[in-house]
Amino acid sequence: MTVSALTIAVDDGSTNVKVSWIENNQLKTIVSPNSFRKDWKSAALRRDKKVYNYTIGTTKYTYDATSDKALETTHVDYQYDDLNLLAVHHALLQTGLEPCAVTLVVTLPITEFYNSEDCQRNEENIEKKRQNLMREIALNKGELFNIVDVQVMPESVPAVLSTLMNSSCNEFTRSLVVDCGGTTLDMGVVVGEFDDVSAVYGNKEIGVSMVTDAARKALASADSDASYLVANELIKRRNDMDFVREVVNDESQIDTILTKIENKINELGSAVAHEAKKFAKNPNRVYLVGGGASLIYPALLDAYSTLGDRVVLINDSQSALARELCMYHADEATFDVSPETLVEVADD
Ligand SMILES: Nc1ncnc2c1ncn2[C@@H]1O[C@H](COP(=O)(O)OP(=O)(O)OP(=O)(O)O)[C@@H](O)[C@H]1O
Ligand SMILES: [Mg+2]
Repeated sequence: MTVSALTIAVDDGSTNVKVSWIENNQLKTIVSPNSFRKDWKSAALRRDKKVYNYTIGTTKYTYDATSDKALETTHVDYQYDDLNLLAVHHALLQTGLEPCAVTLVVTLPITEFYNSEDCQRNEENIEKKRQNLMREIALNKGELFNIVDVQVMPESVPAVLSTLMNSSCNEFTRSLVVDCGGTTLDMGVVVGEFDDVSAVYGNKEIGVSMVTDAARKALASADSDASYLVANELIKRRNDMDFVREVVNDESQIDTILTKIENKINELGSAVAHEAKKFAKNPNRVYLVGGGASLIYPALLDAYSTLGDRVVLINDSQSALARELCMYHADEATFDVSPETLVEVADD
């Protein structure tokens, strides 16, 4: 029996799942935040609010955007556990597609995908991730996508596939790809147009969450306790004073809060630049991807100042990997990729 399945690219990061697919010849992308807790939610009061109650084995979970009991998804085991299965299914439901049979292209942190000693594929980890995503899961009063097959790709480096292919590099060009995500920093060195991945690096201590934590602390001390989602939104929209006033209750604290955020962004930039320089001292190009890319861009421009405009901030850096994986695995190369549609996902 042959099953025809739609191919969907899913960059299932520790804080946000990015999903890209092709619909009516157009590349579409959504970002679905991870925020799950144990047990179920009661039915919503408003009819337009959907409740997502899941069961895996005998354990009940629910999607809860603002819960302070949200389960941690920022450890490596997340890649192979219940929460990953939940996050991927939940994100698929946010695409607005009718649940159907799908083949997924998912990601593993680069240091899980490759053995760091010899840069060979870690088949054991890859198979573990595949099997985890093909497990049984149920949605109360609803239908889920049927995952019939899973392919696994490494994080960071594939995000620059088309950029590299269009950049007239030669077989000796060494490109450093830096993926600054919610909780981890992943880096890889690509030789030529993907002739080889020559080195990989992963650091679980460096990520945007350093800035998020500082923002939450600063907000709390101004009587404005905030969830991760709100703190992240404040970081993104720190130059939008209307938004800042909306979030900060004690207005006299606004300058202090913004300064604390700016300092942490600089600290993150310095930390990434330092690690990048240690890992790849003199690459020919540097590409920045991941949600934190725009935050660290000034620091990397500075650290690799001789490269000038060969330090590149990839457009819509957070979803770059999902988009590239989708285009790379798409059957027909005839779809229209621009203008891109980034569909907003509601918080609740
Ligand atoms: N334009 C932006 N400016 C600042 N921060 C942003 C922007 N876009 C996304 N972020 C932040 O980036 C973080 C998420 O990035 P990303 O989706 O790459 O992480 P992830 O893949 O879930 O994490 P990891 O790769 O560490 O597992 C969030 O903290 C989010 O608020
Ligand atoms: Mg990521």
